[in-house]
Amino acid sequence: MIDPSISLDTVQDVLIESGTIARMGKGLEAGSAAAIDVTGLVVAPGLVDMHTHVREPGREDEETIATASRAAAAGGYTAICTMPNTDPVADTASVVEKVWALGREAGLVQVVPAGALSKGLAGESMSDIGEMARSVARVRLFTDDGKGVQSALFARRAMEYLIAFDGIYAEHCEDESLALGGQMHEGDRSMKLGLRGIPAEAEELMAARDIALSRLTGCRLHLLHISTAGTVELVRRAKADGLQVTCEATPHHFTLTDEALEGYDPNAKVNPPLRSEDHRVAVIAGLADGTIDAIATDHAPHAIEEKDIEFQYAPPGLVGLETALALTLTELVEPGHLSLPDAIDRLSCAPARILGLGEQGSLAEGRPANVVVFDPAAAWEVDPARFHSLCRNTPFGGRKVTGKVVHTFFGGKPTVTNSEMDLVDV
Ligand code: DOR
Repeated sequence: MIDPSISLDTVQDVLIESGTIARMGKGLEAGSAAAIDVTGLVVAPGLVDMHTHVREPGREDEETIATASRAAAAGGYTAICTMPNTDPVADTASVVEKVWALGREAGLVQVVPAGALSKGLAGESMSDIGEMARSVARVRLFTDDGKGVQSALFARRAMEYLIAFDGIYAEHCEDESLALGGQMHEGDRSMKLGLRGIPAEAEELMAARDIALSRLTGCRLHLLHISTAGTVELVRRAKADGLQVTCEATPHHFTLTDEALEGYDPNAKVNPPLRSEDHRVAVIAGLADGTIDAIATDHAPHAIEEKDIEFQYAPPGLVGLETALALTLTELVEPGHLSLPDAIDRLSCAPARILGLGEQGSLAEGRPANVVVFDPAAAWEVDPARFHSLCRNTPFGGRKVTGKVVHTFFGGKPTVTNSEMDLVDV
């Protein structure tokens, strides 16, 4: 059992009773409970994804809240924070309440809706932040993810307003005037491939601006999917200065570089783009020293007919819920960049802490039994056809990885058993 939130790393039993972690210790009797032998497996707090795009409402053909929940449970997750770039945008209490309610109905993970900062993600007038914060969905994280807030004045006003609700201002850092509709990372490879590049500075300028505004306003700031060495360094300095700044990185940014675009594969087109090796190495260093708090998927389903077209017309995004744990174990833990407890911290404890989810990210006695059990040594090959997500857009198809989810429990209820899900009709 490994749980960095309570400094737990030991071999022992756990008793799950009435949906909670009832007791831990060696030689526990199962009593009337069903005993599951998990010898050789790792028991950890269920994973928490801070960054999941569901396509409901609006594009239920691509992903519903129920199918995203299923993909999440299959990936070892017990909570997902859903991004607001749906149609309609989650910029009112009624939309976030609907997302929250559909999550409860699916009942496979805790669905935690994020709210938009601006109405319609237009970056002009503020969304119904107060109503969303006070709704049953109790929104804490606000973002216009999918694009960055271009106006520094709007960003400042939103931060000032969010403080009253203990809200988190979360940014997709991208200065559009510099990114200029780019298709990939700007560098030697974009020159070679003849695609317009997005310079690292398009991310770094906005990260620097937001850190300055967080210092000015005192608002909590979370930088989404950071991808450049410069952003990692900015966050490192902000933390050293004692600012309330957190950030996340995705498995694709610590696993792949812009080399993956050599064949113009639209499944490797993401935003922010896959960067060059020096940036990938800096992201790994940031995860290793804790500058980067969380690993988040940026799960972004897109229909085949939208992705399987010329590179420049394909929308950015890839599905990540069912590969994140294995990529973390294979790319970070196996090579020795991160210890196993640190990996679990980045995938579960830290995101739960940032989002303020008391039910998640811990195996402490008395907590709801949100648990993942995985085999750290099981080797498998990513087969998108087997995904529970409705979409298949991944550049990782055919990749050999190590580390497999065996059981997931959500509130004590098994959602994955022996690596299989009960295929409830969703
Ligand atoms: O690759 C991405 N896809 N990045 C984003 O910021 C948005 C997302 C999407 O919604 O498809």
